[in-house]
Formats: sequence, C-alpha cells, structure tokens
Amino acid sequence: MTVPQPPEPIPGARLLFSLDPSVSHLNHGSFGAVPVAVQRAQQRLRDEMEANPLRFFTQGLVDRIAHARRHLATFLGADPDGTTLVGNATTGAAVVLQSLALRPGDEIVTTDHGYGAVALSVARECGRSGAAHRTLPVPLTATAEEVVEIVRTGLRPGRTRLLIVDQLTSPTARLFPVAAVVAVAREQGVPVLVDAAHAPGMLPATVASVGADFWVGNLHKWAYAPRGTAVLVVAPQWRERIQPLVVSWEQDSGFPVRVEWQATLDYTGWLAAPVGLFALRSLGVDRVRAHNAALAAYGQRVVGDALGVAPERLPDPGGPAVAMRLVPLPPGVATTLDAARELRTRIAERLSAEVSIAGWNGHGYLRLCGQVYNTPDEYDRLAVRLPTLLAQG
Ligand SMILES: Cc1ncc(COP(=O)(O)O)c(C=O)c1O
Repeated sequence: MTVPQPPEPIPGARLLFSLDPSVSHLNHGSFGAVPVAVQRAQQRLRDEMEANPLRFFTQGLVDRIAHARRHLATFLGADPDGTTLVGNATTGAAVVLQSLALRPGDEIVTTDHGYGAVALSVARECGRSGAAHRTLPVPLTATAEEVVEIVRTGLRPGRTRLLIVDQLTSPTARLFPVAAVVAVAREQGVPVLVDAAHAPGMLPATVASVGADFWVGNLHKWAYAPRGTAVLVVAPQWRERIQPLVVSWEQDSGFPVRVEWQATLDYTGWLAAPVGLFALRSLGVDRVRAHNAALAAYGQRVVGDALGVAPERLPDPGGPAVAMRLVPLPPGVATTLDAARELRTRIAERLSAEVSIAGWNGHGYLRLCGQVYNTPDEYDRLAVRLPTLLAQG
C-alpha cells in the first residue's frame, strides 16, 4: 500500500522546544508545547514581577495586558475592542454561558462532537437555571452541507438561546463549516458560540470571517503561547452583557477589562504570548501549517495501515490545514472514557509515545497530531509497535 510522502522537516525546529527527546510527542493538540524562547520571555516577566510585585501589579499592568490583547486579536483577525483575554477556552465558554441569564424553557444546543468540559459547563448552567441541553447527532462522515442542514433543522427559534459548535472538534478531529453554521443560525435568530480551541495558529480562517456572536480560541495550543492564554471574542451587541466569572476591581471598567482583570493572578503568560506568535512567524506560519497538516496525514496513514484500516475508512478532517487526524481502533477497544485513559497511559509507558485516545459514539479512536518538532519515524515506530500492544489487550 503506498503511503503519502512525509513533508520535508523544518530544519532546527525541534531544538526550539525543551521536549523530552526520549518520547514521541504526538499529541500537541491537548496541551500544546511552549518554545524555549517563549518560556524565557515569561521567566523574564516573572523575574520583573518578583523584583517588585507592587510596582508590577500597580504601574501599567492593565495597559500591558491591553497591548498583548491587541497584538493577539490582530493576529487572529478579531476586533481588538471585542476581544478579552481568558485563561482557557473552557473559561471563555463558561463566561458566555453564565452571561446569558438562562430561564426555564430556554435551551442550549450542541453537537455530539463537542468538548466534554464545555458540555459539563452547559449542564451546570442548565441545572442552575432550569434550561435544557439538547445535543444534535452529527455523523463522523457528514459533509459540510449535511452539517449545516442538521443545524438548520435542529434549532428551535425563540427557544434555542445558544448554539455551541466547534471549529475543529476534539474527539473526532473534524473541521466544521462554522461560517455557514453561523449564517444558518442567524437566519433563525439563534446566537452562536464557536469553540475554536484549536484554531489559533493552526487554521488560516480569521475570527471576523466566521462572524459568530462569541468565539473562543486557545493561544496555548497551536500558537505557542504559555499555558493559560486564550481569547473570548464577542460581537458588539453582546459586549455589555458579558460578565466575568469572578467580580474584581475592574468591574466598572466594562468589557473587555472587567473580564480579564482577575486581581492577583499571574498575567505573565499573556504578556509573553506575542513572543509565541513571533516564534511562529519566524518559522513561517504557512510553512508550519503545511508541514503539520502533511505530517498528521502521513501519521494517520502509516498507523492506519498498521492497524489494517483501509485508507477510505480513515476519517477525513474536512480541510487541508488540519494537523490532527483520527485512526479508528479495532471494535471494542477504548470505547469508554476510562478505557481510553487506560490505553493512552499504556501507550505512553510501553511505547514512549504521547497520543490522544477517545471513545466516541461507541467506537475508540486514536488521534495523532503533527507539529514542527515531530519526525516521520516517530509515527513509523508507533505503527510498528501498536498492533502488538493492542493484541496484548
Ligand atoms: C474543542 C475544544 N474545546 C475546548 C477545549 C478546552 O481547552 P482548555 O483546556 O484550554 O480550556 C479543548 C481542548 O483540547 C478543545 O479541543
């Protein structure tokens, strides 16, 4: 069986990271990896903070955060005045949910490809308010047109207070046609939160081109920012209604400052985040995107071949820039959360490879990512050794 050629490596890229060289890090998507230059930039900011905490927090910090926010928003093609920094995508989603003032009779609609922690947040908000949570099933192989149609017929205007749709899904690595989904929801007057946790740095689409009411994205995954760096972008008509999860001293400053100022937190990650974008630009954003997507496609094919999965059964992510791909596991393997966690740990311990395993709709999937620090032989090694490990049960 012919496997696509892997991309040319980006020379020296692995050396930009401090990753343990004895491990194949094939799951950039879950927690990212921070280049050494970005780690150093954050450490310098921490040194400054610890040299004089009073001066650091009270003289100009709000302005420095605003500067970082504008930098990140501009990179993402988002309106800087509609962008607020938050700790992560899950927090951004929770901020939106608790700002909606849900009531009994309202409903939140999601798809069955949504992120688990965001679904838990929806469940809590619905439990508090008496609203309902309805999940739209979307087949793994649905075309973009079918996804839009499922959403179009799945909304209940007047009742659906929010649709949450993921730009690139976590358990299934599917690119959803979010701009078209937003358009079809808008026709019915339903606001949309786009969970774009993986988009910054990976996907070329701008936030403005999606046109959502709310958009959350993590900079600490594919944009090389320190962990704890994410943005929530809010359309003008909603900004006044957005409340922080925790009220703090900038409450009267309005959006976006009242959301991002959370008193004595460590803001050094946000301040260092532009250095992550600098690292990405230095490597060449388009080059990195093309490399990562091609490497993930290569990994999907070699590991899929090794597990006897025919190429036409390998799920297509739905777009060329996607640097995360799924390989279906044999029936019955890793179908539950516990079994998926157990298998992931076993692969890490026995094969020295970090991957993501998820059970979705009764089937187990292995998710592989491509990043500039990865090489084709890491996927080759996994492909050689995984069948034996799975056969051992
Ligand atoms: C689609 C999606 N939403 C939300 C998240 C949560 O990100 P965080 O843990 O940074 O809040 C993830 C994490 O992988 C994700 O894939």
